[in-house]
Amino acid sequence: MIEIKGLFKSYTRSDGSKAEVLKNINLYAPDRSITAIVGPSGAGKSTLSKCISLLEKPTSGSILVNGKDLSRLSGERLREERRSIGIIFQSSALLSRKSAAQNIALPLEYLGVIKSDIDKRVKELLEAVGLPDRGGYYPAQLSGGQQQRIGIARALALHPQVLLSDEATAGLDPHSTETILSLLKKLRDEFDLSIIMITHEMEVVRNAADYIAAIQDGEIVEYGKASELVANPNSGIGRQLISLRVAEAFNKRHLVAELTYGANVPPNWLQILSDKLDVNIHLLGANIEQIGQGGIYGRALVGLEPLRSGTTDITAVNNALKNIGLHAEYKNQNRIAS
Ligand SMILES: Nc1ncnc2c1ncn2[C@@H]1O[C@H](COP(=O)(O)OP(=O)(O)O)[C@@H](O)[C@H]1O
Ligand SMILES: [Mg+2]
Repeated sequence: MIEIKGLFKSYTRSDGSKAEVLKNINLYAPDRSITAIVGPSGAGKSTLSKCISLLEKPTSGSILVNGKDLSRLSGERLREERRSIGIIFQSSALLSRKSAAQNIALPLEYLGVIKSDIDKRVKELLEAVGLPDRGGYYPAQLSGGQQQRIGIARALALHPQVLLSDEATAGLDPHSTETILSLLKKLRDEFDLSIIMITHEMEVVRNAADYIAAIQDGEIVEYGKASELVANPNSGIGRQLISLRVAEAFNKRHLVAELTYGANVPPNWLQILSDKLDVNIHLLGANIEQIGQGGIYGRALVGLEPLRSGTTDITAVNNALKNIGLHAEYKNQNRIAS
């Protein structure tokens, strides 16, 4: 796990005045989790990344990896403890004149590990990132996504507990991004990693984050479990994630409907509706409350995906909805009907 406590970072400008870039950052990233750090340009993400990777010293506060404060170390101790944090850079930053295997071997060579142990570890790492037969390739012979996987293997070479990914998927096409995120999730579970993922891409957050911290002007403005932020109607991040899911449903040509609850909607309406119409119902967002003894009220946004024998015949859908006390407003009826 990695824990950041009361972290402040300020720079002294050339005129002698102080720029306070990070103000009281507190984060707790448990083992086997992915924490996404999001925020607009200039928010302080790179500065936080440099503090976590121990390239910059915080002005105050601490950075604890498995309970040990690494933020005050220097010299040999710092070099040693830095191994517990693996770093993946944007566009992998591989050395072009070395093969994939030689790139992965670099941190091990630097430590003076013997050749046969290096070869064994490099083989393991190539397998862990799904490229067992690409060790002899040079970076230019690999796709962007494959280069990034080699970058991940190199970051893992020294068995870190924390993996810091700084815009690791920026510039990759959607398919490669998806592959990298699946890999990071697999590695999270396989090696119990705490992964800190700095990104400006909400798609990445939606796909992979277990926890989300949003920073703005050097401060954390929202922080929590991804699932809880999505469920919270007051969360700006939650709203952004839901609208992404809606866009995704549109793209998949699901019938997207906003449902308003009338009286006496049975709690298992999703299942009733899905059985009756033979459709998969994707709950894209909901804000539902029980008021007193009086039943459930609220709105839900759903994507209806017809199964082979199912229907998106609007009249049939409407009747089924009405029978269970729901009123629908369709967001993309015309596209589906065509
Ligand atoms: N070495 C530095 N000296 C002075 N100001 C800096 C320095 N590095 C970053 N900053 C300032 O800190 C703020 C946050 O920068 P940065 O961490 O790069 O944000 P982000 O990565 O979120 O875009 C910016 O206003 C930037 O100008
Ligand atoms: Mg930056």
